[in-house]
Amino acid sequence: MATTTFFYTLLAIILLSLTSVSNACPPSDRAALLAVRAALKEPYLGIFNSWKGYDCCHNWYGVSCDPETHRVADINLRGESEDPIFQKAHRTGYMTGFISPAICKLERLSSLTIADWKGISGPIPPCIAYLPFLRVLDLIGNKLTGEIPTDIGQLSRLTVLNVADNQLSGTIPRSLTNLSSLMHLDIRGNRISGTLPINFGKLRMLSRALLSRNKLNGLIPYTISYIYRLSDLDLSLNQFSGPIPASLGKMAVLATLNLDGNQMSGPIPPTLINSSISILNLSRNAIEGYIPDVFGPRSYFTAIDLSYNKLRGRIPKSISSATYIGHLDVSHNHLCGRIPAGSPFDHLEASSFVYNDCLCGKPLRAC
Ligand SMILES: *[C@@H]1O[C@H](CO)[C@@H](O)[C@H](O)[C@H]1NC(C)=O
Ligand SMILES: *[C@@H]1O[C@H](CO)[C@@H](O)[C@H](O)[C@H]1NC(C)=O
Ligand SMILES: *[C@@H]1O[C@H](CO)[C@@H](O)[C@H](O)[C@H]1NC(C)=O
Repeated sequence: MATTTFFYTLLAIILLSLTSVSNACPPSDRAALLAVRAALKEPYLGIFNSWKGYDCCHNWYGVSCDPETHRVADINLRGESEDPIFQKAHRTGYMTGFISPAICKLERLSSLTIADWKGISGPIPPCIAYLPFLRVLDLIGNKLTGEIPTDIGQLSRLTVLNVADNQLSGTIPRSLTNLSSLMHLDIRGNRISGTLPINFGKLRMLSRALLSRNKLNGLIPYTISYIYRLSDLDLSLNQFSGPIPASLGKMAVLATLNLDGNQMSGPIPPTLINSSISILNLSRNAIEGYIPDVFGPRSYFTAIDLSYNKLRGRIPKSISSATYIGHLDVSHNHLCGRIPAGSPFDHLEASSFVYNDCLCGKPLRAC
């Protein structure tokens, strides 16, 4: 009896250890991770202290494996997090070093997040473009230099590309418009120059395109308006010029359009006023002509900022028939005439209207 129990216990132990061995990550993935770790220095939190032992699929901080293939599938290292490791240290993360090209040996990688470590420098390894399963690439908030990998367009499964707040330069690679699964593009706060590819509208799945605070120039390609799902377009604080494409106002779900701080010229297309857009910032451009007199029930603006342009004429009467105007700024233009009355206006302050040629009426001086 005792012998049988002993036998079964032994069998159970053997089976258990066999399963845990087969669940362990392959030595090649473990070696790649250790090479990645060797290129990074994280002095304050000790997040890499857990990267020890053979089984990188279990209890290695920020590493997870595919339950079926047992290959490394996700790397999730965030320098700003609610994780207890940060609370204990009473600080946010800081890391120096670089992203080792050894990361590309993790050929089943589906999501790579190395975000908000503030000090990681060097380039994005170009070989990342050849990780066929990559869906998420999030490297926001480091000090990365160099260019977005030329062949990035190879990543046919990529849904998120976030390299915001780094020091990337160069131009937008031509292959980028081949990212047919891309939903979220964020390159804000870099030094990226050149023009937007004319075929930008090929990014059919895109819902957010955030390109603010770079050195982009040239025309805004009208093909952007082919992107049916686009809800948030932020091109602010660049050097874009030329007219605002009228087709932007005909987009089905575009809710935020930020073109402020560029060199846009020509008039405001009437389509923008009578559209799905609820946040419209055209401030600090060279936009001229009249404010289109086409406000109506479809005009619902949480914020509409037209300040610091060359607008002239009156504030159109139809603006009183807008469904809602939360914040309005038409200051620093050449507007003239009586400020319309009505419910969308009653809460606005003088600062919304100052520095024009001859506006008058509430909340400014009487006409
Ligand atoms: C985009 O993809 C097409 C079709 O796969 C290919 O022929 C083309 O060379 C790619 N463009 C770039 C710039 O990589
Ligand atoms: C519009 O853009 C300007 C310039 O970039 C900025 O100062 C302003 O706060 C923005 N307006 C709104 C309502 O966000
Ligand atoms: C506003 O847009 C709708 C639908 O696109 C259109 O039917 C209507 O005539 C437009 N109104 C004005 C005042 O332009």
